[in-house]
Amino acid sequence: MDAITALHQRVSTPRLTAPAPTPEQLEVLFRAAIRAADHGNLRPWRFLVVEGERLTRLGEVFAQAATAKNPAITQPEIDRCHAMPQRAPLIVVAIARCQPNPKVPQVEQIIAAGAATQNLINAAFAISVGAVWRTGDMAYDPFVKQALGLAEGEEIVGFIYLGTPTVPPHAPREQNPGDFFSAWSPE
Ligand SMILES: Cc1cc2nc3c(=O)[nH]c(=O)nc-3n(C[C@H](O)[C@H](O)[C@H](O)COP(=O)(O)O)c2cc1C
Repeated sequence: MDAITALHQRVSTPRLTAPAPTPEQLEVLFRAAIRAADHGNLRPWRFLVVEGERLTRLGEVFAQAATAKNPAITQPEIDRCHAMPQRAPLIVVAIARCQPNPKVPQVEQIIAAGAATQNLINAAFAISVGAVWRTGDMAYDPFVKQALGLAEGEEIVGFIYLGTPTVPPHAPREQNPGDFFSAWSPE
């Protein structure tokens, strides 16, 4: 698929199954991610790949985090935490790695990590790998961040679920660029 078609047509595919992307497909996605615009060439990102048994472990981490936050948690809620990472055969945890910089504020570094993540899902769509970007409470939970080994200054910008779509991608909702773009009219 050519680049403009991918950019115009990309949609999320939340229903994913095995097989996971191949190592060759992952390489395509990773190369796209690290070409994101990046003020100061700080490379303010890193990515963790979670698959196989590690998805089960991630579910345990989610359940532990939820239990620590709410000791009155119910068993169905715990089961839901365990099940969350099982929604795809592979998850990429996208992490912003912010560092103090006199010219590049933290917000720009998080934006750059977000741009890298968007590049990754655009590339996934272009090569027919299913992808959906999720965050939720777990992305901001200190226990989860610690379990994943995040250091000071690091933030989770997304859990990118990757796999094979169970149904073909739907057509994107029609949108009008004119709703978002306009000429600046100074007074
Ligand atoms: C930073 C970020 C976090 C998101 N977190 C979630 C999430 O936790 N759950 C969810 O269903 N969608 C989440 N989304 C939205 C989906 O990834 C998706 O973009 C949205 O459902 C619209 O579908 P589309 O990508 O096909 O247009 C998130 C998107 C972004 C950019």
